[in-house]
Parts: sequence; C-alpha cells; structure tokens
Amino acid sequence: MPNNQEPLFFKSAFDLLIDRAEGAYLYTRDGRKILDGGAGAVVVHIGQGREEMARVAAEVVGRINYVVPLFDSAERTRLVDRLKRWTPPGLTRFYFTSGGSEAIEAALKFSLLYQKTKGRPRRTKIISRRFSYHGNTLAALSAGDNLRRKDYESVLLDWPKIGPCYCYRCPWGKSYPQCDLDCANALEDEIRKQDPETVAAFIAEPMMGSAAGAVPPVEEYWPRLAEICRKYDVLLIADEVMTGFGRTGRRFAVDHWNVKPDILVGGKGLTGGYMPMGMIAVDAAMVDECEAVGADFMFYTYSNHPLACALADKTLEIMERERLVERAAEIGARLGARLREELSGHPMVGDIRGSGLFWGIELVCDRASKSPYSFDRGVTGRVVKAALKRDLFVYPSRGMAGAAGGDAIMITPPFIIGDEEIAFITDTLRATLDEVMPTL
Ligand SMILES: Cc1ncc(COP(=O)(O)O)c(C=O)c1O
Repeated sequence: MPNNQEPLFFKSAFDLLIDRAEGAYLYTRDGRKILDGGAGAVVVHIGQGREEMARVAAEVVGRINYVVPLFDSAERTRLVDRLKRWTPPGLTRFYFTSGGSEAIEAALKFSLLYQKTKGRPRRTKIISRRFSYHGNTLAALSAGDNLRRKDYESVLLDWPKIGPCYCYRCPWGKSYPQCDLDCANALEDEIRKQDPETVAAFIAEPMMGSAAGAVPPVEEYWPRLAEICRKYDVLLIADEVMTGFGRTGRRFAVDHWNVKPDILVGGKGLTGGYMPMGMIAVDAAMVDECEAVGADFMFYTYSNHPLACALADKTLEIMERERLVERAAEIGARLGARLREELSGHPMVGDIRGSGLFWGIELVCDRASKSPYSFDRGVTGRVVKAALKRDLFVYPSRGMAGAAGGDAIMITPPFIIGDEEIAFITDTLRATLDEVMPTL
C-alpha cells in the first residue's frame, strides 16, 4: 500500500506515513522504524507515546474541553504555578497561544503596547538579526531573515536587522576574543542609527536555530545585548521557541548567561508535541503598568486551552521528575563529543557546534575556504533524504529554511535517547555523507 494516500496541502518531498511513535522512534505504516533525530521540528523533548499523557488528555477532555480565556481553569492556574519555577525571576505573567508564531506575534504586539503605555508611541520598530527564524505569520516573518520570506517580501514590515554572533562566518571578519564583540555592539550602533525614540524592541534567538543550524553565541554576547537594551529602554525579547524547556541543557538558553529578558517566548518543548501550544512570559511589573492605565490585550480563541495547559503541566512535571533538563546536558555532551570525534574530519563538514541536545553540522564544499555549496544543489535536502533512507531523521536547516549561502543539518533528538541512539546517529550520518559526497 502506498504511504501517502491523500496529498498534503502542497505535496511533501517525503513519502512517509507515520502510523505510530514511541520514545524516540517513528513507525511507518509499511513497517519501518525511524530514529527521530530531530525530535520532529525540535519539539518532542520527553519522547512519544507516554501513557500518563494519554490518561491526562482523556481525563481533561472528559471533564472540560474549552474555557473562554476570560474565565480561569484549574489547568491554567496549575501550569502558571509550575512555570513560575521554570522561567527567569520576574517573568511571571503568562499569555498562552496555540503555537510559536502566534506567541511571537503576541510578544511583538505587547512590546508596542508597553512602549505606548509608557508614553513612547513613536517606538514602533523591532530590531532583529540576520539568519533568523521567528515563525511563519507576517510580523514573525518580518522579524526573521530566511528563505520563507521570499514570496511575501512586498508586504513584510521593513524592520532593521543586525548581523548575528556567528563565529564560524563572522560577519565582521574577526575572531573571538580579539573581536571586541562587534556583533553585540552592532545593536547599539543600529539603535542609534534608527533613533532610540523609534525602537520598541530587539528580538533574537538565544542560539541561532533553523536559519543557521544551532549556533551558540560567545559567553559575553547576551549579557552585552541586555545591557544595551536597558540603556536605551528597548525591550529585549528572547525567542526560546526552539531553545526553551531544556533543549540546550539549561531550562532556557538565556540561563546559560543569567540574562533576564523582558519577554521570553516559548513553544515546542512546552508540551513536547502532545498538544500545539506557545506562550510568552512577561515581566510582571510591565504587565501591571499596562493594566494600571486600562490597556487591553486581546486573547486568541484558544489561549489558555485547558487540555493544552494540562498537557504542558504534565510535560514539565515529567521533565522535573526524570531530571530531563540535566539529562539533556549530560547526554548532549556525549552526543556532541561523538559527533566531533566521528565527523569533524569529514570533507563535507565545516563546523560542528551546539549545546545540550541542540547540535548543528554545517556542510561545505571546501573546508579550507569554508565555501558553501551553491544553493541550487539542494545539499541539505539530499543529506536529509539519504539519512532518512537509512532510518534516521535529522532536521534540515538552511538548505530549506535559511538565508545564508550554506547548508546545515540539526541533530536535536528527544531527551530520552541513550548511547545506542548516539552511536546510530553518528554512524548513520557518516555513511550518509560518504554516500552523498561523490554525487555532488
Ligand atoms: C525560534 C523559533 N521561533 C518561532 C517559531 C515558530 O513556531 P511555530 O512553528 O510553532 O509557529 C519557530 C519554529 O520553528 C522557531 O524555531
């Protein structure tokens, strides 16, 4: 029986029908077992098929299936209580959405609302970074810098962008630590250039995600960004949709540097894929200031959905009980070491970088000059497909999503993998690269 019976909205590049999933594995209708080395779209932190999640879902739906967000539910309150222990201190007001893009929209809109409330209505610009992905809605695409913008450029908001902290291809052609952190100082230059009185917020992924292939910044970068934002009353928005909830080995990536953003955006791992859900966590004092002047912030119909709240709460409870954030750090260090041991000498591998269970491999056609493959060769897609033939899924980065000239894959498995899976990932990737390289 063919796998795909009904075409997706646009036909998929993959002909796979997933029938069931358990732990870190996907099972297809035609009997294949695939290791999900991407955790889907970097989502499935706690692994699939957990019975206690199914029990919670059945119990909640049987009792309450919807509450208009004007009312409260025990599920929402429980989740908020737990989340307060997860987010950086002070970020204790939560607004829930159905996914990451909606949450980004909420973060951008809240920063405009806050600036207006503070008597700064001219502050409407959002500064963001090159090689970034913040979601697929129009304002999120405007803040992003990636290939997904291309068909919509004419209607996107014209917001300023600065270069990222990306040492492998430093936009300033410098090397750390002699560089004076030009990448962070670029934010101050841009704020001044735009006129600080016109800038509402700065948004960035704490570690570059799908538009660059998992790139952690240098140690001093985020503290310096936070300092600059404070100096100019520009709100700092950390987009942790991909890096949040333990993915990088800390609860949130900003915890690596003890940075407290004004707004933190989450999604994906919040429910581990058991329900669609996103959120923003906002400094409580800021929300109070808006409320005090009677500001209004409209909900989405599915904000605070009781089932999503209950499953998010259970996901976080499981992570706490099984110490999965710590596990992501430990097993992630082993994964990273093994990737480096096995693959760093491969002629296609330019750079291997990452943190926790958030790893990226940048693919180049010449290691010495770091020359990327030309985009039309579709190298990322070819590598992802070849790995999939060998029953390993890795998440495609720039080849499909990104803006830079190069290609990258991301290795971001569920937190419950063990050494067997690490060995399978590295062995399969090496065989895959060996197979693809002569065809290029
Ligand atoms: C950093 C980041 N922000 C926002 C989003 C958008 O989230 P969603 O796809 O859930 O709308 C993504 C999705 O990949 C992301 O990686």
